[in-house]
Amino acid sequence: MSTLDFSTKIGSKRFSNPIFTASGCASSGSELAQFFPLTEIGAIVTKSIMTKPRTGRMTPRMAETPSGMLNSIGLQGPGIDVFLEKDIPWLVSQQAKIIVSIAGETVDEYGVLARRLRAVSGISAVEVNISCPNVENRGQVFACQPDTAVAVIESVRRNIGGELPIIAKLSPDVTDIVEIAAAVINAGVDSLALINTLLGMVIDTNTMRPKLAGKTGGLSGPAIRPVAVRAIYQVHQAFPNTPIVGMGGVASGRDALELILAGASAVSVGTATFGDPTAVIKIKNQLAELLTQKGFNDFRDAIGFAHRGI
Ligand code: FUM
Repeated sequence: MSTLDFSTKIGSKRFSNPIFTASGCASSGSELAQFFPLTEIGAIVTKSIMTKPRTGRMTPRMAETPSGMLNSIGLQGPGIDVFLEKDIPWLVSQQAKIIVSIAGETVDEYGVLARRLRAVSGISAVEVNISCPNVENRGQVFACQPDTAVAVIESVRRNIGGELPIIAKLSPDVTDIVEIAAAVINAGVDSLALINTLLGMVIDTNTMRPKLAGKTGGLSGPAIRPVAVRAIYQVHQAFPNTPIVGMGGVASGRDALELILAGASAVSVGTATFGDPTAVIKIKNQLAELLTQKGFNDFRDAIGFAHRGI
């Protein structure tokens, strides 16, 4: 009988276990709820929501790659009004732990979203997605420059009040992710989500044209796991007290453990869910078994273990 304490903390909030969904891969959870109670997962991270409804990019907007996939969704979603009216009450009725992901086209839009969320009960944290690669203008990938990343975080911090932890979602498509992490930590984030997808492209050799209508897309899946491990390791080394929600190609408990040993306090599962909607539960169970096998009684002792004694 395992006595593992599997709980984790992000900012001031506690989660019963460290396995979350990744934003964009389970919408607001209703599809997954057909397969298991949402209370089984540490938290559901909702698809990044914007101020207005949005249809996203033209199709095709998914392309398989040998060890992952490209998406070019373009932040499709119902907009904050419908999200607050329908999705949040439904998630609350399921007793799910909710992390709301937000995205904006401008710094002000992030502030507007933060203000709307400020008084909403039942939310555990806000993920500020400043790293979606599927935008028309690369200047809107706020996480690619420290000053633009800081402007967004300051706007969110001003508008959200003191209660909700802020998680900044960063892009791996930068020269020095530690520099961006330092900037947003100084601007007041409680936690970091590492990593969003990498900008990629697939060309169909039959049509001899890009497969995605938007031409480029975000690469996810096992191919990017070593990039995630590297980014998490570097950032944890620089900021060991800032909790990291790790993600990038996690498809098994062993993969999740790798991110945790690098420094992640929680792990989000994304692409694996498309092949198996129960992946998040399998990964949670495999991770608990692995931690117990390795002699951990407290999950938190495994966080950043790979740094010890080096
Ligand atoms: O295109 C998308 O909706 C993806 C968003 C993201 O990767 O942050």
